[in-house]
Amino acid sequence: MIKLTQLTKSYTKTKKAVDNLSLTISDGSITAFIGPNGAGKTTTLKMMTGILKPDQGEVLINSFSMKNNPIDAKKQFGFVSDNPDSFLRLRGIEYLHLMGDIYEVEFEKRIELIEHYSKRLGIYDTLNDKILSYSHGMRQKIMIVGALIHQPNILILDEPLTGLDPQSAYELKEIMREFSKEGKTVLFSTHVLEVAERLCDRICIIHQGKVMYDGTLEVLKEQYPNTSLEEIFLKVTL
Ligand SMILES: Nc1ncnc2c1ncn2[C@@H]1O[C@H](COP(=O)(O)OP(=O)(O)O)[C@@H](O)[C@H]1O
Ligand SMILES: [Mg+2]
Repeated sequence: MIKLTQLTKSYTKTKKAVDNLSLTISDGSITAFIGPNGAGKTTTLKMMTGILKPDQGEVLINSFSMKNNPIDAKKQFGFVSDNPDSFLRLRGIEYLHLMGDIYEVEFEKRIELIEHYSKRLGIYDTLNDKILSYSHGMRQKIMIVGALIHQPNILILDEPLTGLDPQSAYELKEIMREFSKEGKTVLFSTHVLEVAERLCDRICIIHQGKVMYDGTLEVLKEQYPNTSLEEIFLKVTL
């Protein structure tokens, strides 16, 4: 479970990027953070994962406080950031072993997981190449495999479907579905409302650092009869 309490963050004196945001995300669910560019999704995810320190508020991951117990809190999840341009000088396989070492994953297990996920995402044959030579989508995929290598109970992804080809986007959605079926938690951000259809149990529409809607897509649609998803999104984030 992820519990965010009154999270607030400003980069400048005049504007709050995230404004007193509170949310609880229960186990076994897929939740999407949806909002336009600049809504505060990445800032929220960065505070949730301990990359950014909140000005105010608290983050609990499976009851571990990000402030008081950051190592245990961070062991609970795998995170895929919106910028996959990291560790470019490593070969794919070296990056995955680095992640395996950091999270102390047993050798046999990590080989099994690397094979499983990199084959599914279509990067198995390129694992001996340097990440520098990878396309944006391939870099994203290696980060996804790296985030799954310690078999976390929580998977957090920032705009994971942006830039993926249809086959890989489908595989990633399948991985998310399997994950939640096993009782694990998935949280991802997107600026595309359609992505949430048929995938998410819950959507949180974020705008100007606040939660504007929190619930199922079905209930949201009922509130706006005869309106397209695109129009609903525009109305909620007006
Ligand atoms: N490093 C930064 N320095 C200054 N302002 C930032 C920085 N990162 C984000 N912001 C601002 O914070 C707000 C929220 O940004 P962000 O969390 O990246 O939104 P989203 O991920 O929803 O597009 C925006 O107004 C953005 O310009
Ligand atoms: Mg973002």
